[in-house]
Amino acid sequence: MNLKEKEEKLKEIRDQLLNLSHSPLFIYRKENGYFPVAGQGSHNAKIMFIGEAPGKNEAQTGRPFCGAAGKLLDQLLESAKIKREDVYITNIVKDRPPENRDPFPEEIEIYAPFLDKQIEIINPKVIATLGRFSMDYIMREFGLSEDLKPISQIHGHVFQSNFNSKTKIIIPLYHPAAAIYNQELKKTLFEDFKILEQYK
Ligand code: URA
Repeated sequence: MNLKEKEEKLKEIRDQLLNLSHSPLFIYRKENGYFPVAGQGSHNAKIMFIGEAPGKNEAQTGRPFCGAAGKLLDQLLESAKIKREDVYITNIVKDRPPENRDPFPEEIEIYAPFLDKQIEIINPKVIATLGRFSMDYIMREFGLSEDLKPISQIHGHVFQSNFNSKTKIIIPLYHPAAAIYNQELKKTLFEDFKILEQYK
């Protein structure tokens, strides 16, 4: 798929998300003047980062990871010598859940098909999941259910998936928001990010 086709298809996803009135998060979005957060970055990215769901800053601007967790993500990318504009950053759930609560399974179910399409269109070599929700979904989706363990056991591991003739490298990482006030986790996250440098 060429870049123009990719742009058109990704725009379709944006439009569909804007009109997703059957989502349980749609009314909350409208009441607060929020935007859905589709994703941001290179449409030819080799690495795609998948977080959990937009927070307040993200829902106000429509851009992923632009608040406190985003600031740490920027530092992590810089430490691995990766430019933010060269990767694609998105979330599994595209609207902000109230009070940043964990997404409900039915919310993941509604938004996951959009993520699936984004992965298909952008076709990254590497998917780096941020946090347990995207880890769980992506590992199952790419035939790695048997390797699923708590994130404390598999963060920073490199999984090769050859599922349905799709070849992907999946790397589960801790969510940056969890590491903001946890120095030990932050250290681990910086260590784990080093692995990504070879794939940029
Ligand atoms: N946390 C996420 O999971 N995603 C964002 O976009 C921001 C914070």
